[in-house]
Amino acid sequence: MIYLDNAATSWPKPPEVLDAVAKALAAPASPGRSGHRPAHEASKLIHKARRRIQGLFGLPSPERVSFAANVTWAINEAIEGFGLKEGDLVISSALEHNSTARPLSRLRAQKGIVWKIVPPRGDGLLHAGDFKDAMGPKLRLIVINHASNVTGALAPVKEIRAQAGDVPMLLDAAQTAGAVPMEDIGQICDIVCFTGHKGLLGPTGTGGLWVREGIELRPLAVGGSGSKSESLTHPDFMPDRLEAGTLNTHGLAGLAAGIDYILQRGVQDIRAHESGLTRLFLERLSGIPGLRVLGPQLGEVRRVATVSVTLDGWSSSDIARELEATGGIMIRSGLHCAPLAHEAMGTFPGGAARFSFGPFSQESDIVAAADALKGLSSRKRPGTQGANAQGRA
Ligand SMILES: Cc1ncc(COP(=O)(O)O)c(C=O)c1O
Repeated sequence: MIYLDNAATSWPKPPEVLDAVAKALAAPASPGRSGHRPAHEASKLIHKARRRIQGLFGLPSPERVSFAANVTWAINEAIEGFGLKEGDLVISSALEHNSTARPLSRLRAQKGIVWKIVPPRGDGLLHAGDFKDAMGPKLRLIVINHASNVTGALAPVKEIRAQAGDVPMLLDAAQTAGAVPMEDIGQICDIVCFTGHKGLLGPTGTGGLWVREGIELRPLAVGGSGSKSESLTHPDFMPDRLEAGTLNTHGLAGLAAGIDYILQRGVQDIRAHESGLTRLFLERLSGIPGLRVLGPQLGEVRRVATVSVTLDGWSSSDIARELEATGGIMIRSGLHCAPLAHEAMGTFPGGAARFSFGPFSQESDIVAAADALKGLSSRKRPGTQGANAQGRA
């Protein structure tokens, strides 16, 4: 198998992650609940994972990192918990995933918030000046996808911060945590949401958010926390404030091990590795007749290792099916849960074929994928020109 779907979930995981999960599963895990030794050990595992997130994002303390099942839950927690009211202005980019777009769409319908969507320009990149133009007196929140899971384009987060003054910025770091150096992100953004199973190399069912001091989100769920058990009111202090119910200790043990791997290898090293593969892929794609690369092109460094393409005569799902059948190459077709991004790129509703590389991808994988696309381009499929047959989207 040639696995080029790391933007969906990373694979393989470092062996240390598998070991850490297996070890955690072998012990009773009731973090922050019972007073016995295994319960303390479980709490220590959770604390270790918090400290790893702290280290990766350069945060002042681990205590404002709350864990959740994934970044979708974390983003919902942040957007819903922010207390937005009718007429409040929220700005996002058009490159948002549905994990952001759907909560904002719902708040617009139910609470009457104003949601302005900033599109990328012709180069596929977001420009800070366009965010400035969208700002207004009722601006309460800016929500940004750090890197598009469709085009790989990196958002100009620092530049947007410079325009935004004190307005809180929420970052969806699903596609960048672990893949792009972010040790100053806690000084730029106010809320950082992450998922454990992509660039952080951990298991599914892990993720969370860091919320800076001074922002108190209303929790989406309340319940058992292992603290303040005498009260019928959920604790108001972080991290318990945003954690209701027993945490995924097994998964978080794996997440901590994934981040340990990343920190030992170095985020810079991973970034350089993935950038090199992306460059190689784009070089190999250039000149393939009828092939279009969405967004940032060869030579643009403001991108991550995700490349989506369309190919004349082929629907995205046919490309994916053919690559798997003939080359054992796993990619993702369709809309990638990001219909706004595809609309902005002119590929809605057919979508695109997405190739995404990870820390363990190799040059030979990239060459095989590019060669396979070249092969398809010379084997046009009659009747499918412009077809929109969908893969799972
Ligand atoms: C940019 C972005 N945000 C959010 C998500 C949602 O991730 P999860 O399913 O782990 O919550 C994804 C996953 O594809 C993503 O790429």
